Amino acid sequence: MNSLKVQVWRGGAEGSFQSFDVPRHASQTVLDVVTHIQRMLDPTLAYRFACRVGMCGSCAMTVNGTPRWTCRTHVNAVVKEKNELSIAPLRNLPVIRDLVTDMREFFDKWARAKGGFQGPLTRNDDFQKINPQSTSRAQVDAAIECIGCAVCYSACDVVAQNPDYLGPAALNRAWTLVKDVRDEKTIERLRAVAGDAGCHACHTHMSCTEHCPKQLSPTAGIAGLKREVSLAALRNLL
Ligand code: SF4
Ligand code: SF4
Ligand code: FES
Repeated sequence: MNSLKVQVWRGGAEGSFQSFDVPRHASQTVLDVVTHIQRMLDPTLAYRFACRVGMCGSCAMTVNGTPRWTCRTHVNAVVKEKNELSIAPLRNLPVIRDLVTDMREFFDKWARAKGGFQGPLTRNDDFQKINPQSTSRAQVDAAIECIGCAVCYSACDVVAQNPDYLGPAALNRAWTLVKDVRDEKTIERLRAVAGDAGCHACHTHMSCTEHCPKQLSPTAGIAGLKREVSLAALRNLL
């Protein structure tokens, strides 16, 4: 049977790659490969996944040098004639062990960017009505399907150079809330993303947008935040 030569990162930040031979199958995903290693070859391998269908965002890893969601990445798409695969944890995040990264700073930055919705209603009120044809709703819809996988964060060189930078996912989240007419924290949120570690630190090289598995464009949202911050500053609102 055709087999894959797989290099898998083992240990923490100071770890090294370990080699495994894994049988190839039709329609095999990279997550299938990792699962085979953990179930059949080395049960001590640590990795993370939940849904296996591209919804939870927990299975992202660096595959042949590129950040990807592994449950929806087919081996055929990333392995060419050499039958070789390297699988490592996501870049720009602390490694806990093997393929598992510590996601705390990634999600702490969502909180720093005021990523929580704050509306005026209580549970006793009726739903707020939004015009689905409105421009602001279209802008929210274009950015809302983020699954929090951190692929964009791992692909971003500004995060690599400046670990304080809020990063594309947190800023994309802030953008969806700035454009949400029901939300009441716009000025507070714009203040939160206006600093040195916020939207103006983005170099617009679009690596986040190129790698996002949900085809979102954090770059476009960050550009929108830059505009909104500048307009608010001109109006002396910040
Ligand atoms: S566009 Fe901005 S956020 Fe996206 S990868 Fe480039 S620097 Fe990072
Ligand atoms: S913006 Fe895309 S790449 Fe970034 S966390 Fe969300 S889904 Fe993942
Ligand atoms: S396991 Fe949920 S997105 Fe891959």
